[in-house]
Amino acid sequence: RIFDQEDAPVERLVTRTVMSGAMIGKGSYRHFMQKEIFEQPVVIGDTLQSYVDPLSRRVTLPDMPFDFADIPRLTASACGTAFYAGMIGKYWFEQVARLPVDIDIASEFRYREAPLPENGAALFISQSGETIDTLSALRYTRDQKQHILSIVNQQESGIARESDVVMKTLAGPEIGVASTKAFTTQLVVLACLALAAGRARGSLSPEAEAELTSALIEVPAQASYFLEREAQLIEIAHEMAEASDILYMGRGSMYPLALEGALKFKEISYLHAEGYAAGELKHGAMALIDEHVPIVVCAPSGPLFDKTAGNIQEVIARGGRVVLISDAQGIEAIGDNVTHAVQVPEVSPFVAPILYALPLQLLAYHTAVIKGTDVDKPRNLAKSVTVE
Ligand code: M6R
Repeated sequence: RIFDQEDAPVERLVTRTVMSGAMIGKGSYRHFMQKEIFEQPVVIGDTLQSYVDPLSRRVTLPDMPFDFADIPRLTASACGTAFYAGMIGKYWFEQVARLPVDIDIASEFRYREAPLPENGAALFISQSGETIDTLSALRYTRDQKQHILSIVNQQESGIARESDVVMKTLAGPEIGVASTKAFTTQLVVLACLALAAGRARGSLSPEAEAELTSALIEVPAQASYFLEREAQLIEIAHEMAEASDILYMGRGSMYPLALEGALKFKEISYLHAEGYAAGELKHGAMALIDEHVPIVVCAPSGPLFDKTAGNIQEVIARGGRVVLISDAQGIEAIGDNVTHAVQVPEVSPFVAPILYALPLQLLAYHTAVIKGTDVDKPRNLAKSVTVE
C-alpha cells in the first residue's frame, strides 16, 4: 500500500515485470559479476538492435527534442563507471561529430554552477537511474532550461522519469556491484548517439557512418570470441594478486578505459590501482615504476599505437612489468618486450573501448576471486548510491 505525504492511501498502476528467473539467477556461474561479463555479447547485441538498422547500416534514434546540428556543445555528467563511459563518449562526439562535450563528475557538477548555453542539451548516464548526484545534476540542468537526454538501464527510475528522452541500455538486471555489462552497453548507446550527431552535423559521410556502424555490429561476435580466452587472464591475475599497486595506462579513448580498469580492479580486489593517460606518466607517476608495480596497457593498433609503444618502452627501461592488451599487429610489433601480451581481435579504433573493457573486467574479477573478496558485494559499497 502506498501513502502520500498526508498519509492518505494512493493508487498506483501495477506493472508486471518482464524479468524472468533466469535473468536474476546466477545460473552455472560462481558470481553474478562473472555471469554479467559473459552476458555481454548478447546484451551488446540486444542494445545494438534497438539503435542500428543492420540493412542500411545507419543508426536509428528516438525522436529528440533538439537537433544535434543546432547545439553548440553537449554537457554530460555521471558517476563512477558511467562517468568513464561518458568520457569515452566525449572522444567519440568530438572526433566523429565535431561536437564539443563538457563532461564532469556529477557530485562536482551539481555544485559547480556551470553557465550553460541557451537551448543547450545535457546528457546523463546511469545504470540504476537513481544515483542521487546524477539526478541532482540533471535537475540543475533542467533549471537552466537544457534539453535532457539520458542513458539508463532501469527504465523505472528517477533519472528516466525526469528526462526528455531516455535511451535505454538493454543490459538486463545488473546485480554485481561492479558494473560490467551496463558499462559496455552504455558505450554502445554513446557510439550510436555520436554517429547520429555526426550525420546531423554533416561531419560524417554516409560511407563513414556505414563503416563505423559495421564495426559496431561485429562487436558481439568479437566479444564472444575473446571471452573464450579467459584462462590467460586467470594466469595473469595470480601475479596481480601479489602486487600492492597496479597502474593502468592508455591513450585517446583508451585513457578513460584505463581509469575504468583501475576502478574495477580496486573496488573488488581491494588493491590500489590508478589509471593514467600514457603521455602523462612521465609527469610524475613514472617514479612509481619498478619490478613490483605491474602496468596494464591498452594499446590497439591504429593511429596512436606508436606513441603508446614509446611509453611502454620507457616503462620497460625502468624495470616495469607490462601486461599489454592489444591485437595481433600490436603484439607482433612489441609483444616480445612485455611480460604478458593479451590478444584481442583486431577492430576499428572506434569500437576498441567496448571490446578492450572485457580483459580489464576479467582481470579484476579473477584477481578478486584469488584474493577471496566478496566479489558481488564488495565491502563499503552499494549498487546504487542514493545518498550524498
Ligand atoms: O547506477 P549508476 O550507473 O548511476 O552508478 C554510478 C556508480 O555508482 C557506479 O558506476 C559505480 O562506480 C560502480 N560500482 C563501478 O563498478
